[in-house]
Amino acid sequence: GIPKFVKIVEVGPRDGLQNEKNIVPTALKVELIRRLASSGLSVVEATSFVSPKWVPQLADAKDVMQAVRNLEGIRLPVLTPNLKGFEAAIAAGAREVAVFASASESFSKSNINCSIEESLVRYRAVTRAAKELSLPVRGFLLLKFHRYVSCVVGCPVEGPISPAKVAYVAKELYDMGCFEISLGDTIGVGTPGTVIPMLLAVMAVVPIEAIAVHFHDTYGQSLPNILASLQLGISTVDSSIAGLGGCPYAKGASGNVATEDVVYMLNGLGVKTNVDLGKLLLIGDYISKQLGRPSGSKTAIALSRV
Ligand code: HMG
Ligand code: MG
Repeated sequence: GIPKFVKIVEVGPRDGLQNEKNIVPTALKVELIRRLASSGLSVVEATSFVSPKWVPQLADAKDVMQAVRNLEGIRLPVLTPNLKGFEAAIAAGAREVAVFASASESFSKSNINCSIEESLVRYRAVTRAAKELSLPVRGFLLLKFHRYVSCVVGCPVEGPISPAKVAYVAKELYDMGCFEISLGDTIGVGTPGTVIPMLLAVMAVVPIEAIAVHFHDTYGQSLPNILASLQLGISTVDSSIAGLGGCPYAKGASGNVATEDVVYMLNGLGVKTNVDLGKLLLIGDYISKQLGRPSGSKTAIALSRV
């Protein structure tokens, strides 16, 4: 059955903003995190300690982290692609980190400039260092389900990612000590038809309590995919305020599923989240106005009309 409580992992300040073309002022990022922290969310991804050449938008990671490190009652994980990022994160006050591996070789190369196996070696070093400091590490597993990219041209670029490959990398991350593995359909092409077999393969090797899902709305499949995940018993869902986001190294990826839309659906299902939808709507409105664009949340658009 569907879990009675779902933990929402808000990724807006990191995944949501990392792809913004114009540099968002540090003070706005900090204010967004503060507001999200007061909406009842228990986890807000704050930023990434990655190369500023690769993700210029998050070059202020240290300043953001230092400004929010003392917020109470909220976990603020940050992405760390290697030991250099890990050390910088700790120095800035991070108390939880996340590593991010890929289930696709080509995406690993374009996102973190190394092979899957090389990334696992780096992440073992990060998880070992985190263990010495007793810090929790989350693992992201980027799926990038392949489709025939050019329906237009009719030419398959890369075959689909097999559930077995996803399960292999998920288990590696779990075995190295990641307490949670977030399965990310980075380009949002998955449907319940591809997502369910993938989840079943991962559930065969990683305990279900450690599995989270992370969907993008490129094809409008996020909510059905989340519902399918809940029906399998998964109870951790990533989402982004106002549907902000997209990965800079995943061409064509649109926003993450909007937190408002996830909470609206969970409220409708009678699933508890502890998150206040009214507060989320205000925050989504605030950040959309600051960025000068309409919200990516259908719920926000619908409720702004009534
Ligand atoms: P590289 O160029 O191979 O790194 O990048 P390198 O080790 O050869 O070093 C090159 C330069 O980068 C050196 O500086 C290093 O010091 C520096 P230089 O000597 O040239 O001045 N460097 C760093 N600087 C700051 N922080 C660091 C760091 N590491 C090295 N941590 C690297 C490899 C992994 C660093 C790079 O590829 C990178 O930063 N990639 C990050 C990509 C990224 O953030 N992608 C988005 C997140 S994943 C995502 O969005 C998907 C997800 O949301 C799930 C979903 O949506 O489905 C998780
Ligand atoms: Mg994402």
